[in-house]
Amino acid sequence: MLVASNRGPVSYEVGEDGSLRARRGGGGLVSGLSAIGPEAGALWVCSALSDGDREAVRRGAGEDGVRMLDIPADVHADAYNGIANSVLWFVHHMLYQTPLEPVFDAEFRRRWASYEAYNRAFAEALAEEAARGAAVLVQDYHLTLVPGLLRDLRPDLRIGHFSHTPWAPPEYFAMLPDDIARQVLRGMLGADRLGFLTRRWADAFTACCERFAGGLGDTRIGVHGLGADADFLRARSHEADVDERMAALREEIGEGRRTVVRVDRTELSKNIVRGLLAYRQLLDDRPEWRERVVHVAFAYPSRQDLAVYRDYTAEVQRLAEDINARYGTPGWRPVVLHVKDDFARSLAAYRLADVALVNPIRDGMNLVAKEVPVVSDAGCALVLSREAGAHEELGEDAITVNPYDVVDTARALHEALTMSPADRTDRTKRLVASATALPPARWFLDQLEALRGAAASH
Ligand code: F6P
Repeated sequence: MLVASNRGPVSYEVGEDGSLRARRGGGGLVSGLSAIGPEAGALWVCSALSDGDREAVRRGAGEDGVRMLDIPADVHADAYNGIANSVLWFVHHMLYQTPLEPVFDAEFRRRWASYEAYNRAFAEALAEEAARGAAVLVQDYHLTLVPGLLRDLRPDLRIGHFSHTPWAPPEYFAMLPDDIARQVLRGMLGADRLGFLTRRWADAFTACCERFAGGLGDTRIGVHGLGADADFLRARSHEADVDERMAALREEIGEGRRTVVRVDRTELSKNIVRGLLAYRQLLDDRPEWRERVVHVAFAYPSRQDLAVYRDYTAEVQRLAEDINARYGTPGWRPVVLHVKDDFARSLAAYRLADVALVNPIRDGMNLVAKEVPVVSDAGCALVLSREAGAHEELGEDAITVNPYDVVDTARALHEALTMSPADRTDRTKRLVASATALPPARWFLDQLEALRGAAASH
């Protein structure tokens, strides 16, 4: 079995003494794959992303079970930043400010050629490594062309692809140049089976294929809603470093105050700015909450090579400071914002959460919505965007919001903060049950089994 993704399960740093240090990544895919154990003989094909990664490739020092591809840095940058993150991510999350963007010009075509070369490098490496009849699980929007390219090279393989993002509806997908739209869909349809996080994203993909590619052909579609890893989270969140972070956070929050917690990578799709606007609206509409609540917002850096991400991060910081300057008092900081990634501190915030705010513009799943109820010490109320994939599973026990409506989100925050303890406990129980229905290992194995079944009939 082989897995292919842009970001792999491990990354390397070169130490001052010249030695290589490996750091294992987290995430559902890594824990899902580790659950099947090394005896499965799986190989993970990924990109070298850092200088340390490239050095590891040059020294032939990679970990067993991982093959990093040393794709030229400029080709990788064009494919990853120029296409995957700036075009495909924007299309699927519907993020364009359409009066001015997108513009598909000659520069776009140049980058697209890099995206093709980068996908080809993956397809060739997979074709070279795979044993006869092996199963290959390709991940995400970075690698949409790989299934088709790989099918041409190795018709014997069973090929699956999984999208961790939403899929754009046909009206939005139609923004792509016609030939590119067709190429993406045909690339995906080279797979025996395509997996999505929710029925909604699967249906959007099917609708795009009907409109632009003459239908799905023989390719099967499946839905696998990745769940939270409850055992891992519960154990990890009671380790000593998390307790330390809790003490520090309690200090920042102040005695006896309620908390509205959010933890995100600072993606444009996470809607952190409107979350802050909604919190400010709450303080305006319901002055009784002043001094009695703190918005704990962790916004960790992501994709800082892109100016639009850097600008967004700066806006989050500016607005948080603005709220603190306007409403804060000597003993009360209304927003506690942290931007330095710290997993133990994230878990500490989860444990302290009275309310979890998860209000993305659009999101494949959003695991934070599933993790906070599992980890929170006293149960939490969940304010959840109807545009998050997680809403399909958690919507009934969450307080649903339209992510663009900050007045209504402020109302939802008030409702969450005033929820009765009994209601909060009951809802948390049901949220936890839904959130943990499909743990990472099961999620992964289900896909593998389904691929074996689908390939037999392709
Ligand atoms: O969260 C959606 C997702 O596509 C993940 O599947 C993937 O790991 C990540 O985003 C990509 O992020 P990055 O650009 O940091 O690798």
